[in-house]
Amino acid sequence: MDTKERFAITTGGDYHGKNILAPMVRVGTLPMRLLAAQYGAHITYGEELIDRRVMTCRRVENNALGTTDFIDKDQKLMFRTCEEERTRIVFQMGTADAVNALKAAEIVCRDVQVIDINMGCPKHFSTSGDMGAKLLHKPDTVWDILTTLRRNLPCPVSCKIRLLDTPEKTLALAQMIERADVIAMAVHGRYIPQRPRDPAHWDRISEVVAGMSIPVIANGDVFEHGDFERLRNDTGAVAAMTARGAQWNASIFRHEGLLPLWQVKQDYVRHCIVTDNAVANSKYVIKEMIMKHDTHSLEGVEGKAINKCKDLHSLAQLYDLDDFYCDVIKHRTRKRAADESPNAA
Ligand code: FNR
Repeated sequence: MDTKERFAITTGGDYHGKNILAPMVRVGTLPMRLLAAQYGAHITYGEELIDRRVMTCRRVENNALGTTDFIDKDQKLMFRTCEEERTRIVFQMGTADAVNALKAAEIVCRDVQVIDINMGCPKHFSTSGDMGAKLLHKPDTVWDILTTLRRNLPCPVSCKIRLLDTPEKTLALAQMIERADVIAMAVHGRYIPQRPRDPAHWDRISEVVAGMSIPVIANGDVFEHGDFERLRNDTGAVAAMTARGAQWNASIFRHEGLLPLWQVKQDYVRHCIVTDNAVANSKYVIKEMIMKHDTHSLEGVEGKAINKCKDLHSLAQLYDLDDFYCDVIKHRTRKRAADESPNAA
């Protein structure tokens, strides 16, 4: 079975009509991806991880959690995934070099659906290493990375770009990417110097879509559920992707409408507990949710209480999930004991 076929089967068809969780550094760890999917996201991107770090990882089956973990050379957990998300997880990588990209991708490719290359990040930490948006001006490197991955990986490859300063330049790059045989391309409808508060250019995305035959995923300013369809219709893109809309309230993926933020935070903390997410990362994501609605909220009662949480148990207590937490830990402890001495059960 070729890679496109495999992806088509596991995503239940293709990218058509899909609502997608965008890659987000620190936000897009496993509990957020599971939360977005719980609410209806069809495809969920992980946060961008840098090839040099991924290259050093070893794969570990974590039986107690039911996850697959990738641990780096400093023994830090770099990436955690699980069977439940296997059919929809896109692993995004930051890279500037085909050899490193391949070494890194080979480590995770059997546990994810697609390897995606970030070609849009304008932040210094990316561009200083010639990664992210720097790649938009290096077509030879882009070609080298994408064709190397396509030739050697058992899974499909995609990429995510921003707009170049003229429609002709954007289209020329996009068509070159298409020739490299990627399965899809996401277009974030902003120019490199533009900040998130600047409106996204849906009209510019439609110009790219018109010149492409592979699936294009449109990205930018999806802030309510109806925007997914509006963005697809306005641009002609087959799929629509949201970052901040989901960061602030992941229930944006529900066609029945948004849930109260308290319930979303509770659901998020449940996923953090079940996946044993790092408390610092869990607190960061919850703070991002509450800051959108009230920039002073971190100085309020909830914000101060989050800051004081030292572990997932205290976070669970803050969100009325003490019983849930204790049940999960009890179950996990029993499982560990059974795994360690299988004959005792
Ligand atoms: C991002 N973005 C981003 N893009 C990417 O390709 N890789 C990444 O790791 C990140 N990280 C990231 C973190 C956070 C907190 C935000 C808000 C954004 C950009 C993101 O995927 C998206 O392209 C833009 O945010 C535009 O989409 P929205 O926010 O208008 O829906």
